[in-house]
Amino acid sequence: MIALNMANVMEEVIGEKGLTEKEIEDLRQKIKDALSQIKNRKWSELAFLDLPEQDTEKIKEIALDIKNQAENFLLLGIGGSALGPRAILDALSPFHNLRHKPRVFIYDNVDPGTLSSILSLIDLKKTFVNVITKSGSTAETAASFMILWEEMEKILGKESTKRFIATTDPEKGNLREIVKKYGLESLDIPPGVVGRYSVLSPVGLLTAEVIGVDCKELLKGAKDVRDRCVEEELWKNPALLMAAVLYLQGTKNRRTIDVIIPYADGLKSFSQWFCQLWAESLGKLGLGLTPYPSIGTTDQHSQLQLWMEGPEDKVVIFLRIEDYGTDIKIPIVFEDMEGLNYLSGHTLSELIKAEEEATELSLARASRPNLSLDIPCIDAYHLGQLFMFFEIVTALVGFLFGINPFNQPGVEEGKNFTYGMMGKKGFDKKRQEVEEAREKKLCWTVK
Ligand code: PA5
Repeated sequence: MIALNMANVMEEVIGEKGLTEKEIEDLRQKIKDALSQIKNRKWSELAFLDLPEQDTEKIKEIALDIKNQAENFLLLGIGGSALGPRAILDALSPFHNLRHKPRVFIYDNVDPGTLSSILSLIDLKKTFVNVITKSGSTAETAASFMILWEEMEKILGKESTKRFIATTDPEKGNLREIVKKYGLESLDIPPGVVGRYSVLSPVGLLTAEVIGVDCKELLKGAKDVRDRCVEEELWKNPALLMAAVLYLQGTKNRRTIDVIIPYADGLKSFSQWFCQLWAESLGKLGLGLTPYPSIGTTDQHSQLQLWMEGPEDKVVIFLRIEDYGTDIKIPIVFEDMEGLNYLSGHTLSELIKAEEEATELSLARASRPNLSLDIPCIDAYHLGQLFMFFEIVTALVGFLFGINPFNQPGVEEGKNFTYGMMGKKGFDKKRQEVEEAREKKLCWTVK
């Protein structure tokens, strides 16, 4: 089970810039209320909590078909529909495409260069396309789907429809309509599960199965951590404590930037996944906490100086790995060089763990708050725990702020301007606004 260590945010350890037990105690009632929202499923969007109990049979069947037939698996989606699958792919099957078939490509943008490259690398005759969009109307995903639809049809004719798997709302949206009209294979994203909380739905589980990961292990981990995180006693519940600490640091101490730093390359994409979850869920009504993705040890040589001596506006969240599942010994070479020979005989995992501990300690000595999550190893079971744990913590922090952690009203305006520019019916006024803004912008162009 993953474990939280919060010594380095406490006053007792880092001095007056830390939190006192009393400050956390004073939050007890608010935290209790937040937890009761979780336990009583006060919001329909808390449906993500029930994903561990879902039926995975259809996901497994479709994945088996893909594994038997495909050389390439191309995922089209954006935001929560892509970041989760990528986090699973990179954590559980690093360098996947160099070692395994089907190769996996995740296209989560509308950069023409990237799609041209993907299309030049894959043989569409041997490709399955998984289009993921909960709403069924996201412009980026719709555009790439339309392109693939035509390209596949050119090559496979009517058979092409058998190569698409649509992952979307069970009833609503354009994609669901297309599923019905053309008889596409499909998987349902449960109605209450919103994009950034959907990794443990078919959104992430199909990719997991395609790369050879038993999705039930992800769900088992998620279930175990969920059951652990409904514990009522504040001091025994890691999710409540983490939510309380980050909320207090953000509000009382104005430490509003949360750096996440896993000490494992495989969790780089997990950091990106966390950043979307944290930012889109919590940043509203002038409130929120800013996520900041990072990776250890690499960013010790890039960002650490800022965290140590820059503005006192951050909390650093370390993800420590206990067992890397493999190790490499540093050989005894250059024996006469004191600057190097201390490394000989140690292993890379010893070094990375020492560096992680050293970084925690040096930040603590500089009174810079940090906390750590200890992860026994990176496998499906523990990755499932991490996903569910951070989703619960995010919802809790949202409830502490008194905001809705499940919507994203702030992204609508940009979408409407885009619709206007792309000629969508009913958005002419938005197009005019863009044109007026362009004129103003011109006066300030410096060439
Ligand atoms: O968290 C969310 O709901 C969003 O970030 C969505 O995941 C993103 O906008 C993509 O939406 P959709 O899956 O509807 O295409």
